[in-house]
Amino acid sequence: MEANGIRRLVRCECSATKRIQQLLEQGRIPRRYEHCALENFDVRKTRQSGQENRSLWWARRVAEKFVEEYPTEFGLLFVGPTGVGKTHLAVAVLRELMLRKGVPCLFYDFHDLLKEIQDSYNPVSQTSELRVLQPVLDTEVLLLDEMAAANPSDWVKETLAYIINSRYNQKRVTLITTTLVPPKDAGNAVMPSGEAIPDLERTLNHFGATLASRLYEMCKLVEMHSDDYRKAIKQAGYRFHAD
Ligand SMILES: Nc1ncnc2c1ncn2[C@@H]1O[C@H](COP(=O)(O)OP(=O)(O)OP(=O)(O)O)[C@@H](O)[C@H]1O
Ligand SMILES: [Mg+2]
Repeated sequence: MEANGIRRLVRCECSATKRIQQLLEQGRIPRRYEHCALENFDVRKTRQSGQENRSLWWARRVAEKFVEEYPTEFGLLFVGPTGVGKTHLAVAVLRELMLRKGVPCLFYDFHDLLKEIQDSYNPVSQTSELRVLQPVLDTEVLLLDEMAAANPSDWVKETLAYIINSRYNQKRVTLITTTLVPPKDAGNAVMPSGEAIPDLERTLNHFGATLASRLYEMCKLVEMHSDDYRKAIKQAGYRFHAD
């Protein structure tokens, strides 16, 4: 391109498209969540009051602001019961960061990550290959989905602490989703077994008090309360053509 007699190199549109394509491929967002966007996150009405659900409205607002203001010094920790849309919003943030801001991001389901690290274990060297772990430590924005474990082993605790501490020390942004009943509802919530559903504090403490405290420092807490979207909306939409 030439302007005022000065020649400049400009990146052509096709290389920008290629770059975004590459970011999306490296981001590893599962197909199940490819549709997740901020625009199609529906702020549903609460059944009791018929008003917009404030917590969902707020969660979407936080997600939007986060994308607008990125780079930020903190990540996001989405908590709430199953099916409220935690992964949807977290993936929407990741996609916006890649598409709008060209930020390298990585999606990992917590259990899949642990399994991949375990599978890469080499009994001879007695270490796991860095092939799996390195991108998790290095990526600019990591989404750790479904971070939970009822009785984590020492190895699980150490692995998580290692990931979180490394990212913390390098000031890298981490998004986390975890399925919990927030503390103030925990008194009423029971599992089918009759056991009380663990509250946020107690569950994060499963991974050690230091890690729990670090997560509060690294991430803004986004609490979401609603019923299960899969049950309430998706079920109603599944129909056979012949019905
Ligand atoms: N408010 C919403 N608007 C649009 N789609 C939604 C909303 N909430 C959930 N969904 C859709 O419902 C499905 C379940 O949502 P999602 O996986 O985000 O729930 P979750 O809170 O992560 O649940 P879990 O704790 O079981 O992982 C997804 O397909 C998601 O796109
Ligand atoms: Mg989820």
